[in-house]
Amino acid sequence: MHGEVFQPNKDFAKNARVKSMDEYRALVAEADADYEGFWAKRADEKIAWIAPYTKVLDESSAPFYKWFVDGKLNVSNQCIDRHLADKGDKTAILFEGDRGDVEKITYNELSQRVNKFANLLKNRFGVTKGDRVVLYLPMIPEAAYAMLACARIGAIHSIVFGGFSSEALRDRIEDASAKLVITADGAYRKGKPYLLKPAVDKALENDIACVEAVLVIQRNKEDVTWKEGRDYSYNELIKDESDVCDFEVMDSEDPLFLLYTSGSTGKPKGVQHSTAGYILWAQMTMEWVFDVQGDDVFWCTADIGWITGHTYIVYGPLAAGTTTLMFEGVPTYPDAGRAWKMVQDHKVTQFYTAPTAIRVLHKMGENEPEKYDLSSLKVLGTVGEPIDPPAWMWYHQVVGNGKCPIVDTWWQTETGGHMISPLPGATPIKPACATFALPGIIAEVIESDGTPKKIGETGLLCITKPWPSMIRNIWGDSERFKKAYFGDAKKDGKPVYFSGDGAVIDKDGYITITGRVDDVINVSGHRMGTAEIEAAVKEDEHVAEVAVVGRPHDIKGESIFIYIVMKEGKVNDDIKSHINQVLSSEIGNIAKADDIVAVPGLPKTRSGKIMRRILRSIAKGEEITQDISTLEDPDVVSKIKEAVKNS
Ligand code: WTA
Repeated sequence: MHGEVFQPNKDFAKNARVKSMDEYRALVAEADADYEGFWAKRADEKIAWIAPYTKVLDESSAPFYKWFVDGKLNVSNQCIDRHLADKGDKTAILFEGDRGDVEKITYNELSQRVNKFANLLKNRFGVTKGDRVVLYLPMIPEAAYAMLACARIGAIHSIVFGGFSSEALRDRIEDASAKLVITADGAYRKGKPYLLKPAVDKALENDIACVEAVLVIQRNKEDVTWKEGRDYSYNELIKDESDVCDFEVMDSEDPLFLLYTSGSTGKPKGVQHSTAGYILWAQMTMEWVFDVQGDDVFWCTADIGWITGHTYIVYGPLAAGTTTLMFEGVPTYPDAGRAWKMVQDHKVTQFYTAPTAIRVLHKMGENEPEKYDLSSLKVLGTVGEPIDPPAWMWYHQVVGNGKCPIVDTWWQTETGGHMISPLPGATPIKPACATFALPGIIAEVIESDGTPKKIGETGLLCITKPWPSMIRNIWGDSERFKKAYFGDAKKDGKPVYFSGDGAVIDKDGYITITGRVDDVINVSGHRMGTAEIEAAVKEDEHVAEVAVVGRPHDIKGESIFIYIVMKEGKVNDDIKSHINQVLSSEIGNIAKADDIVAVPGLPKTRSGKIMRRILRSIAKGEEITQDISTLEDPDVVSKIKEAVKNS
């Protein structure tokens, strides 16, 4: 298989938007010749402008770039209203609940529900343009209504993934100074009800001054506690609202949403996205990368709490006028065939998931896909972490029956949409390779001074020109924004966006992502900062010092490996479980560690910097090849190795 290249399926390519590498190259050349013109053409074609922009790109306060300056639009208009004339009766959201309940929401119905929701936010809660609203919600259609309702009235939503703890929720509510929190009693997972509202209660325990109200959507009708004067029932209140609501006219650069994500230092940061640039690219990548057309049914299995859910469950598919499948449950319940049964039942045409999910589905049911009719599938996609060739091969051969191109899409919370990906009708695909930058995206693998890396050498993956859907700021912290994204690499003396990932380009120009080169780890496609985990572990009174690294894991991609230096005594099971409890309450269950090892000390340089590279090698069981003589105490390395061996 090594070196094998998979040519695009000819039948598929005939009808694809981009039909060949020549067409791809022509688009790249178009952007090359006139970068602003390239983007202006797309913005004119795709966006329902209320008032035109006066300038395509304003670089005067770089890296605070502005796109489509002075343009006026509204994202809910782009995603809903403009489709109503010819697609009113088309299914916009196709919902399947955990227990198999199915609901089809047409564009007309979506319009009515979003308008009602928008009126409720405005009239009952006084939410206006620029206010922040935190959403802590399960995967139910109301989550999409809430997002679009915010967009309609110009409120900025900040979704907190339902798997985050109440602590993490509180931090995010406070950082954004949210006025309103929207949650649900809970939802269903693996056939059973679970609760979300108690985490909101806990987060707001010591009243947070900014929060005026909590709006609770009823999903599973479980008993939840109620605080009079603060908590309101969505299901009761929504009945009284009108389904007509004019949208707010928004500026291209008005923030559309915040989404908190982990970095290599400090607390998670509120990535701030714009209105016009974001929605333009969300829609364009749906068309180019997934090639959605006609009556396609698009299924992205992410949670709306992550950027993938924002861009490829809600905004992208709806802006493109397609049918988006939203699923409350997990793809392996009640059995390993659930996902494939759903593809069959709903005639899914594009299926987009994470390598972790592919590995689980593969492991649990190697031949399971063959029991279902998956002939509707046209394009398969992956995102979130590097995919390994065996998982890629199974996905291609068994799920896609050898006929579906796999789009291995590289992008990030900060990029808003896909950046590097095959185009399904054009790109000859090398397994487990993100291939080429999309037209209009200038991705380079360089050294920090801008020197291009040679073929086959890993370097920093940078985007060297601004692009419309890029992060605009870190909420409330412009300095951190500059430092985190424009502080590590320069080209021609000008700071450029550094992704935090390493990559390598081969002799044919194909880009392969090698993973994070900063202190961020990726567990099951969930991004976590080692600094954030370390800060949480330090909350344990027994811990004197801590260092966290990622270790390769068969299913999760990476798992969390924690080295601790105890104040006194040894690590026993009690302390291990205590540390995991601390992590689950400070961050969430996704931050639980697979390994916790007590060591006598950490490998530090004489200036006190922890050499995480050594710790990573030891966790992996690798030989240490680097020079350790510069360490303050070189002997500590063999002691750490010993401790890991005995753990
Ligand atoms: C990783 C998810 C390899 C990468 C959309 C990036 C990938 C981080 C890929 C962003 C891919 C994403 N191949 N690695 N196709 N896609 N990544 O912000 O390390 O949750 O920096 O956005 O996931 O994670 P985030």
